[in-house]
Order: sequence, then C-alpha cells, then structure tokens
Amino acid sequence: MTEEVSAPVPGFLRRKLQDHEKRMQRWESPRHILDGPAPGPGDILLNGNDYLCLARHPSLAQAAVDAVGREGLGVMMSSVFQRGAHSRHTLERRLAALLRAESGILCQSGYCANVGLLECLADEQVPVYIDRMAHMSLWRGIQSAGATAIPFRHNDVDDLRRRLARTGPGVVAVDSVYSTNGSVCPLADVAELSSRCGCVLLVDESHSLGTHGPRGAGMVVGQGLLEHVHFRTASLSKAFVGRAGFVACMRGFERYFEMKSGPAIFSSAVLPHDIAALLAALDLIRDADARRQRLHVNAAYLRGHLEALGYDLDGGAAQILALQSGLEAQTLRLKDALEARGIFGSVFCDPATPVKHSLVRLSVHSELSRDDLDHVVDACREIRDEVGLSSWASTRRHEARHPAAENASPMFR
Ligand SMILES: Cc1ncc(COP(=O)(O)O)c(C=O)c1O
Repeated sequence: MTEEVSAPVPGFLRRKLQDHEKRMQRWESPRHILDGPAPGPGDILLNGNDYLCLARHPSLAQAAVDAVGREGLGVMMSSVFQRGAHSRHTLERRLAALLRAESGILCQSGYCANVGLLECLADEQVPVYIDRMAHMSLWRGIQSAGATAIPFRHNDVDDLRRRLARTGPGVVAVDSVYSTNGSVCPLADVAELSSRCGCVLLVDESHSLGTHGPRGAGMVVGQGLLEHVHFRTASLSKAFVGRAGFVACMRGFERYFEMKSGPAIFSSAVLPHDIAALLAALDLIRDADARRQRLHVNAAYLRGHLEALGYDLDGGAAQILALQSGLEAQTLRLKDALEARGIFGSVFCDPATPVKHSLVRLSVHSELSRDDLDHVVDACREIRDEVGLSSWASTRRHEARHPAAENASPMFR
C-alpha cells in the first residue's frame, strides 16, 4: 500500500481550520450541520430545485445518451473557440425565443452567467445597486468587475430610489424569486424606477424560468416588462435540470461577452450531452402548463398551512419555503426532527445566510401528492415544541405582525 503524504500546514491555514472546529462545537453535537442520514425510499424530498420533476424523464436521458453516441464527450475547450454549427447555438436560439430575447448566451452555470455578465457591465465607474438578498454569484460578479456594490434593503423600492438619487445611474441587480426564502421581487416597480433613472436592469430568473410566465418564459415576460429589463440570467440547474446557465441579452452583445467574461474565456464549455438534455427539457417545459399549475397549487397549500401553524415564512410567495430557525444549533434540531419524520429539506447557514439567520429550506415540486403535503404539515405541527418554535426570533416577528394568528387559526393547537 502506498503511504499517504500531505504537505505541512502553515499557521494561517491551521487557524482557519481551528475557527471552523470552534463553529462546529457551537452546534451542540460535534456534527457538521450538513451531515445526517441519507433519504430512503418513501421519504419526501424537498431539497432539490427540480420544480417540475423532469430529471428522470426518459426523453432527457435518451437525448444525452444519443449525443454521447454521436459526439463522444465532445471537445474540451473554451466556448469562445467553438466555431461553425454547434448544438450550443441551437439551444441559445431556442432559449432566447422562449424568453422573447433578441439573443442568448449559454454559460457553464448560473454562477458563471452572473459573474461573467457583471464583468461586462460594471467597473470602478459603474456601481451596482443590489438587493441585500440577491444571489451570491451576483455579489461575486461585482467584486470580480472591480465595481462598488450599493446594497439596498430587501425588496424595498424606496430604499433603492434614495440610493439612486444619491449616486446616479448604474446597474440594478435583483433576483425574480429569492433562493433562500422564496420572496418575490416587486419587478414592475424596480423596472419602472430603474428605467426612469437610466440604469441597466439585470434580473436573475433562476427560480422563475420554467416555472412562471407563459410556457415557462419567466416573470419578466409574464409581467410584460421586456422593455425595461436589459439582461436576464438563469441557472439551468433548477426547472431545466441541467448543468448550465444562460444570459438573455440584446442582439450583438454575445460578441462583447466572449471577449470580456472571464468564465467564458478561461473555463471550458458546456458539453454536447448536457446541451442535448437541455434541448429535450426545453421541449417538455414549453408544454408543462399542468405541471406548473400543480407546482403553484402545492406551494400555496403548504405555505398556507405552515403559516397557520405559526411558522414565519418571511414573506415568501413562490415554491421555496424557508423555516427560519435562526441559530445554527436550532437549525440542526429542526433538520433532525424533520428527517426523523422522513422529510428532507436543505440547510442554509453562513455564508448563504447571515450568521444567526440559518434556516431549513423546503422546495416544493409539482408531483407532491396531497398526502405528501399533509405529512409535512402534520410533522411541522408535531415538532413545534421539540424544535422550540415559540423561541425562534422569526416566530416573535411573526406574532408581532399577526397578533391574533393563534386564536384565528383552527390549526394552531
Ligand atoms: C438565484 C440563483 N442564481 C444563480 C445560481 C447559481 O446557479 P448554478 O448552480 O447553475 O451555478 C443559483 C443557484 O444556487 C441561484 O439560486
């Protein structure tokens, strides 16, 4: 057997690892907050973003297999070197058509789309007004562009207006649906303000592409805001169940992007079998009105019942529901209580949330049955004392906003 060897660890790295150990000790049990049992058969999975349940659709797998048979694993190179006919261009055209955009750029991920796009739009002279809850990749894009971030309070258009009045035009960056708590951006107001102030508006539609708007075209199309929104980005690893990202843009922008976006230039391209599966997903998504409707009905059902039980869902309104347990030790207890009842959500903690605002995110999908949803509701009712729901800071906020909730709801018992 060959001996394993590792290089000596210098002090600065040892200190970082020790800080991490201390954080783990605060979780009461010396267990990593993300660790736990794997889900088994019959468990309810609310930890993915396959909102329309397409990942196991046979036509996606078949499309990927056919592409591997035809093209092998493809050519390993940056997309900026791809010339001539390529399935990537077909996908870009078809996605742009769905989004009613003049043009589109396929990226390796939603993260790469946001970072690469902001590298194209912002710089030392062009600030980025960004919602405090916007996705981390948008923040990283601002850093990467060397621009100044001007954060505004979550979904607070008046705060954005005040900041724009102080600093002048720039890029405005928001998510249509916020990934941590499912809150929905007041897009029409943001778009009107951003247009009036001469800004460039970027909307990340990762959690609304495929699930909202006509044929899944997203919220910007759904709300008739195309004339105010310059760029839309999306991770295609949500409803589209692929490993890629997308930028919807104006005609000709792609030639600038390929000379400016770091991820496009310095990282290799999406592979043909991924593209083939995405093309198949696009066909399904365009015709998935029934799935979309079931998704929204399921989300509204669960949201209504959990709120009636006293859970503060932080103003969310989409298919993402956040149980805001707050401190990490409380979040670990909540995760364990749910998993013991066969319910698997996703833990969000620092750095995905502020330190004392960790949570368990439940992502609803279209194929949950009423029994599944009732099982989640029953479990959430049963665990309220076990997880200390009444002592959560979010519960106190909820009660302050809805003082009569306990008496008004027949479910609150
Ligand atoms: C709103 C939002 N934008 C961007 C991303 C990044 O997407 P990807 O996983 O494709 O890099 C995510 C994924 O977590 C997201 O939720």
